[in-house]
Amino acid sequence: EKGTYAHYMLKEINEQPAAMRNIIQEYQDENGNLKIDEDIIKAVREADRVYIVACGTSFNAGLVGKEYLEKWAGIPTEVHVASEFVYNMPLLSKKPLFIFISQSGETADSRAVLVAIKALGHTALTITNVAGSTLSREADHTLILHAGPEIAVASTKAYTAQIAVLSILAQVAAQDAGIDTGIDLLPELAKVTSAITTVIDDAELMEKIATDFLETTRNCFFIGRTMDYYVGVEGALKLKEISYIQAEGFAGGELKHGTIALIEEGTPVIALATQEGVNLSIRGNVKEVVARGANPCIISMDGLNQEGDTYVIPHVHEMLAPLVSVVTTQLIAYYAALHRGADVDKPRNLAKSVTVE
Ligand code: F6R
Repeated sequence: EKGTYAHYMLKEINEQPAAMRNIIQEYQDENGNLKIDEDIIKAVREADRVYIVACGTSFNAGLVGKEYLEKWAGIPTEVHVASEFVYNMPLLSKKPLFIFISQSGETADSRAVLVAIKALGHTALTITNVAGSTLSREADHTLILHAGPEIAVASTKAYTAQIAVLSILAQVAAQDAGIDTGIDLLPELAKVTSAITTVIDDAELMEKIATDFLETTRNCFFIGRTMDYYVGVEGALKLKEISYIQAEGFAGGELKHGTIALIEEGTPVIALATQEGVNLSIRGNVKEVVARGANPCIISMDGLNQEGDTYVIPHVHEMLAPLVSVVTTQLIAYYAALHRGADVDKPRNLAKSVTVE
């Protein structure tokens, strides 16, 4: 039940700190070390390449997860949209491991790929919120998200849970291979949990951003680079599906190759700036859109913030920043939809679980 919350979406956004704590607990052994089933780590270690296959928000979580698998565990990783993969399979490596990411575990597009790669004799790991779901039953291995039931059509806590579980998987695989990732993941995830709580406590500020920037607009652009680019794509998906504002997430550097033509006087541009290595370049992109009349909303991270930023998230490890910055975009999308009179929990034309291809 949604209890005192006006909508399931708001409830589920608010449940993210609890979901993170659950995940931290479920993936820990009695000595306080991260743990993942040995067979799963073996499957990851034996693979010469990981193929992440998913749809929608789960695909967007896969983009972030790829960075952990490559940068921490050193495993080449590709992320594919299930409905494309099934009709246009890329050349596969010799020892592929398939990771299916699916909140519901019932998505038909993803299942079609699972059936196809099982027929080829490949190994599959499903990361899902629903134990006993189709994708879980038909895969060789399963990792559960432990986010609790997600009712709202717009996925929120499943996305952060997917990223958290992927980070743990990559970290344990790296440890098993004797690789020092340079990150002490458990305390860093604990920091993320309290940073998410801070953002949720600032919901009124997110509501103000929604009304200041999005109350009457036709369109909205999200820009970011590297990890922030992936969060921008997810922020745009969330905003469009519940508020019906036409929204797109772009890599900051791609703007000048076309999209900047769409910037007009007053066009809202939400820029994410949580990554040190690209902080100057994303801020350069903000200047480019401002020069064309854009109304910039800058969401940065403590330590990288500059005067005039719209909102500053608490400092966390920058590889984990998506877990925090995405919550600002979830709340902004929620309040934008609310103020525009849209049905937040049941957006038109969408179903929670897409069981047709
Ligand atoms: C967006 C959303 C969808 C789902 C997608 C995949 O908020 O909910 O994009 O993420 O349909 O669903 P699952 O994860 O159940 O496979």
